[in-house]
Amino acid sequence: MNITVIGSGYVGLVSGTCFAEMGNRVTCVDIDPIKIEKLNKGIIPIFEPGLENMVFKNVKNNNLFFTTSLIEALQNSEIAFIAVGTPMADDSSADLQYVLAVAKSIGQSMQKRLIVVDKSTVPIGTADKVKATIQKELDLRGVDIEFDVVSNPEFLKEGVAIDDFMKPDRVVIGTDSDYAAEKMKQLYHPFCMISDRFIAMDIRSAEMTKYAANAMLATKISFMNEIANICEKVGADVSQVRIGIGSDKRIGYSFIYPGIGYGGSCFPKDVKALTKIAKENNYTASLINAVELVNDAQKLVIAQKIISRFGEDLTDFTFGIWGLAFKPGTDDMREAPSIYVIKELVKRGAKIKAYDPKAVNEAKAKYLKGVENIEYFDSKYDVLKGSYALVLLTEWKEFRSPDFEKIKRHLKMPVIFDGRNQYISCDLENKGLEYNRIGF
Ligand SMILES: NC(=O)c1ccc[n+]([C@@H]2O[C@H](COP(=O)([O-])OP(=O)(O)OC[C@H]3O[C@@H](n4cnc5c(N)ncnc54)[C@H](O)[C@@H]3O)[C@@H](O)[C@H]2O)c1
Repeated sequence: MNITVIGSGYVGLVSGTCFAEMGNRVTCVDIDPIKIEKLNKGIIPIFEPGLENMVFKNVKNNNLFFTTSLIEALQNSEIAFIAVGTPMADDSSADLQYVLAVAKSIGQSMQKRLIVVDKSTVPIGTADKVKATIQKELDLRGVDIEFDVVSNPEFLKEGVAIDDFMKPDRVVIGTDSDYAAEKMKQLYHPFCMISDRFIAMDIRSAEMTKYAANAMLATKISFMNEIANICEKVGADVSQVRIGIGSDKRIGYSFIYPGIGYGGSCFPKDVKALTKIAKENNYTASLINAVELVNDAQKLVIAQKIISRFGEDLTDFTFGIWGLAFKPGTDDMREAPSIYVIKELVKRGAKIKAYDPKAVNEAKAKYLKGVENIEYFDSKYDVLKGSYALVLLTEWKEFRSPDFEKIKRHLKMPVIFDGRNQYISCDLENKGLEYNRIGF
């Protein structure tokens, strides 16, 4: 099939590349000319494991193209995916300006029958708005072109996005059109060969499914973090409680790991947006609201532990940070807990030495730009030289089994603050290291 994917970020670029991998002819469009220029020169603007090789292969095979021209991309396309950002607006709703701008451009550009697919995470009822926006432009042009608007929320996880897309747990399609349902089924068939993972439903339910999924996962995280905080108060060990409850099949082990809270481009904004959607529909989403409140507080738990240990005034202290990305496997720092922890420490006069395998450029250019007293290093052990403590904020694999002797040697004081509970089983006290973690 000929496909256009509009928005070449984490979702658009991965989806477009994976569709090309299955033999489709895909054109990825972006409004950012620098991004498209880079892609056309073979430079991948984001870090996602496996993506670079897959892009190169499909460009070489003439299956994958990049352009800033929507009109050119749509010329031969049967399906156009909208995969632009839906960031949080000032009132904490999902900002639809990019989605609706794309809908307008589609209405101005399309020449023949098209299936328009909302892949961006959008509030319930957005497909109607996209449809009305496209129709308005077609009316202004005085043309009558058939089109469908379909909801196809994306569930990929950054860091394992290629695998998630190529072998999805499910493909949710919301549509009221048999024609569109059949085309979408054909398109996704190669991704669902092992078992039928294609779930068709009405459009609003598909839009809601994405919010419900993210809210459920965020709830599990906040729930476990709350349990961790209570454990600390009553002298229980959350790591043992986790094993104790996870063994119950109804609960399970996934997403009940205590830590410094969720971040990233999805959970924070989607949880907020769902609360807003409920409110707009005269419902108070108390549980979902509480999930967010618990998470906001959790992001600062490790900073509070540092303050309790070293005092309110941190002017004389330097801390070595391991991990800036909101999770391992990505350079994405959107809403990363590291931003909150570092700002809290710097506010109290601390100096920071930071290392992350992939996210340093993002930190420097955007998320920690202008924050004073931060130095970045290329080696995880170099950040420890002259630091009073190691603070682990992202659970990258390379941090899992470090040289604890070296850590002890480099640090001014042998103290570790583990925001991800990575070293629970390492018996650090016996290695002469003071160990502070979440929920103990
Ligand atoms: N990142 C994830 O893990 C993830 C997972 C599932 C769903 N989502 C959802 O997918 C959507 C996209 O997220 P993302 O992380 O890929 O965002 P992103 O910010 O990485 O990418 C968005 C891209 O859209 C481009 N863009 C904006 N306006 C445009 C226009 N008018 N025409 C063409 N391109 C335009 C931007 O330049 C940018 O490159 C969001 O709604 C998000 O909630 C994200």
